[in-house]
Amino acid sequence: MKSIITAAVLASALVAAPAMADLDLAKKSGCLACHSVDKKVVGPAWKDVAASGADRARLITTITKGGKGNWTAVTGGVPMPPYSPRVSDANIEILADFILGL
Ligand code: HEC
Repeated sequence: MKSIITAAVLASALVAAPAMADLDLAKKSGCLACHSVDKKVVGPAWKDVAASGADRARLITTITKGGKGNWTAVTGGVPMPPYSPRVSDANIEILADFILGL
């Protein structure tokens, strides 16, 4: 019985680990200065971005080149700064997938 519980706890830790790593990447990349997962900060809450139906290509473009106008109703028109090449293309894709999966 105890080993079943241990296995269940381990399995859930393994599932949670990638999301934690991605949030850590967001933190290291400076995103959390303006974003949080479930609250608007300067930029929109990432859960709202995921729920908005925005596609992966658009998120990657916004993170890479910056952008504005998609979230004016939420942000009052503040632009999102460009992150390439400060953040690698591979990490930008990881961040976009993480946000879409929220
Ligand atoms: C200086 C503040 C700021 C920082 C830092 C910032 N953002 Fe943003 N972000 C914004 C604002 C403002 C918007 C809304 C732009 C708009 O209206 O289109 C936004 C929008 C977004 C969107 C939605 C894009 C869309 O097309 O709908 C995503 C995804 C996003 N940010 C991810 C990130 C990631 C990932 C990082 C870190 C690499 C980051 N942001 C760093 C301010 C910021």
